[in-house]
Amino acid sequence: MRFLILHMAETLSEHTRNILGLQLPTDPRWVNLAEIQLEEILTDHAYCEQKAATTCISLIQKNPEKDLLVEELSPIVTEEWGHFRMVLAELKKRNLKLGRQRKDVYVNKLLEFQRKGGSPTERFLDQMLIMALIEARSCERFKRLSEGLEDDYMKNFYRKFMESEAGHYTLFITLAEHYIEKKTVRQRWAEWLAYEKELMNSQEVRGDRIH
Ligand SMILES: [Fe+2]
Ligand SMILES: [Fe+2]
Repeated sequence: MRFLILHMAETLSEHTRNILGLQLPTDPRWVNLAEIQLEEILTDHAYCEQKAATTCISLIQKNPEKDLLVEELSPIVTEEWGHFRMVLAELKKRNLKLGRQRKDVYVNKLLEFQRKGGSPTERFLDQMLIMALIEARSCERFKRLSEGLEDDYMKNFYRKFMESEAGHYTLFITLAEHYIEKKTVRQRWAEWLAYEKELMNSQEVRGDRIH
């Protein structure tokens, strides 16, 4: 797994235009905007980690019969909560405050694309793919920060997050393919990628949020 993550991180540097299948790279102005709003971006980042941990707990609660999912997601809860604490420590060190959680437009718009009234398998597939997509986009954003920020310490800080999220992206796809036929997963994943491209295109570029 470690090798896979390192390998992915290397691949990421080479293919900035096509990270993890994402169809639209982040607007280059975003890093510059984020850089001047560090308190907001760290606050938003902290809540992204909190939501990742909370969602993994909820996925375990809803799928206790799926042994592999329970086994694989349990440590991810700890890891995501560890990320939350790392961001919190960074805020404290800089004398910045954890602000309030904002309305998450990106995630809400993604949720709208989930199949309503599908079979339990279809709903499960969408749950795995929405997680994979959020991890992939987070990974891409962290990569932008790790490359585009001025401060070397912050570049390195975000590089570590980028590597973690690349591993999580892979895990959610792997879990989907463990429980559902690969071809079905790939077809739906292509639909999600196309939807996310449109969503990113329609969103205003704002430096106070990760997505
Ligand atoms: Fe994370
Ligand atoms: Fe993650």
